[in-house]
Amino acid sequence: MTEHVIITDEAETRMIRLRRPEKKNAIDQAMYRSMSHAIDTAQANPQIRCLIITGGSGVFTSGNDLEEFLHAGTVSSEAAGTSVMTKFLYSLAHNVKPIIAAVDGIAIGIGTTLLFHCDYVLASTAATFSTPFMRLGLVPEGASSLLMPASMGHQRAFAMLVMGRSMSAEEAHIAGFVNAVVSPGHTEVEAHKVARDICKLPAEAVAISRRLLRTPPDELTRRIDQEAQIFGERMGSPEAIAAFEAFFARKRH
Ligand code: COA
Repeated sequence: MTEHVIITDEAETRMIRLRRPEKKNAIDQAMYRSMSHAIDTAQANPQIRCLIITGGSGVFTSGNDLEEFLHAGTVSSEAAGTSVMTKFLYSLAHNVKPIIAAVDGIAIGIGTTLLFHCDYVLASTAATFSTPFMRLGLVPEGASSLLMPASMGHQRAFAMLVMGRSMSAEEAHIAGFVNAVVSPGHTEVEAHKVARDICKLPAEAVAISRRLLRTPPDELTRRIDQEAQIFGERMGSPEAIAAFEAFFARKRH
């Protein structure tokens, strides 16, 4: 699919590794497709009990590939660039297996919003979380406008989603969406320990209980669709195009 996402099955756990360090693991369409496929094909596979999403050491992801966004925004004002992202978000919304995230560095945009679809989040002390949608002239995605206030309260969600404030690992731990903070370089090892703990539990009872805890998929996809519609329109807005261009022009100044 793409060399930038490495999928491996280790014991009963499917590892989804982002591997595009030269672009800070920015997620392009091929990477979204690959991640969706990894999640979708795990659903009916009884050998897979857990999933781990990781960016490796030093970075989680810098979010959506802005070069693709710039292209999508200038070529068409439709939601061209968001449809593959939306498909990935649907995969997360419909996923029935526990997902663990290992965050060892920046988690920007969807790098933070996808965590609210995960069941257990490990962060290193080097992790930072931010959703700079406003700075880009965009709006929240990934059902984050629903899940983030529900998880950490309106005021914290407003500071992140609207004001673009970032959080450290410790702040995210206090806010409640990070389970544990570990040393840099240790998130994957810890994620494997968590996966082993989950895999020891009775699979059916885990699946039923997880479903009881989570926002129902149809509610999530409704919000994902609402956000995606506006996000797609915003991508073609002069505010957003100017912000994407400014990002790529910054090194020339
Ligand atoms: N999309 C596309 N390319 C990206 C990217 C993104 N989201 N984030 C980083 N890159 C690229 C840079 O353009 C650069 O490429 P180049 O070496 O070919 O010029 C490379 O990754 C390294 O990034 P750089 O900015 O030089 O590293 P840095 O350590 O100074 O800053 C970030 C890292 C992540 C803080 C900074 O790149 C950034 O702010 N990225 C944009 C984040 C963002 O707004 N994401 C979208 C959220 S919706």
